[in-house]
Amino acid sequence: MTVCIQEPGLRDGRFITFEGGEGAGKSTQIRLLAERLRQGTPYAVRGVVVTREPGGTPLAEKLRGVILSGAARQFGPLGEALLFSAARIDHIDRVIGPALRRGAFVLCDRFADSTRAYQGAKGGADPALLLAMEKVALGKLAPNLTFILDLPPEVGLERARRRRGEGEADRFEAEDLAFHAQLRDKFLEIAASEPQRCRVIDATLPPEIVADAIWTTVCEKFLKAFTDGKKWA
Ligand code: TYD
Repeated sequence: MTVCIQEPGLRDGRFITFEGGEGAGKSTQIRLLAERLRQGTPYAVRGVVVTREPGGTPLAEKLRGVILSGAARQFGPLGEALLFSAARIDHIDRVIGPALRRGAFVLCDRFADSTRAYQGAKGGADPALLLAMEKVALGKLAPNLTFILDLPPEVGLERARRRRGEGEADRFEAEDLAFHAQLRDKFLEIAASEPQRCRVIDATLPPEIVADAIWTTVCEKFLKAFTDGKKWA
């Protein structure tokens, strides 16, 4: 099942993940980036795949329902991390790996950093165990780039509350402010420990400014030859 990004056949596939706390605006930013990539870049032909976690396959979407309803809470953070990892393995096998092998651009709303942050926050699972589990689930796969949309938890939770209207908060949104403050710290720690892979973006800025910052980074990292007007292989 293991996907190796050096494997012949993965060609120019690119894997970008979007991370952050609640209400950071990930889905809006993924939609805007996908639109830009589909408008005349080489990836319009190679494919732009938008997906999410937990989810992305029928089986993983079922697990999403179980986890976000709170039904798996009694397993504790390590048990929940195992469920997220099981969903992730199916997602990699059926969607992410095949798309990267086709040379597509894969944009994923949350991925392994969410497990490190959410299941590791506030008395959560041992970080060493979470990393071991991550290795099992991901094999040699790693995102080429991760955007961490950063904002104060009060602001994000208020945005999430407005978005859901009368609906109930899900399993993690319902956690207290201290949990969400720790989440923010965890994501910033991840960014500091892997600066090559991670870019922190101020998600309190207007969405179009955030979108431009994301686009500039994507162009610099992956579309240099294209934006310089050179012939694209
Ligand atoms: P979702 O409604 O997609 O939240 P958001 O819009 O904030 O992305 O629900 C996903 C929730 O699951 C979110 O609260 C984060 C949590 N989560 C984890 O706790 N661990 C994980 O590994 C993943 C992928 C998500």
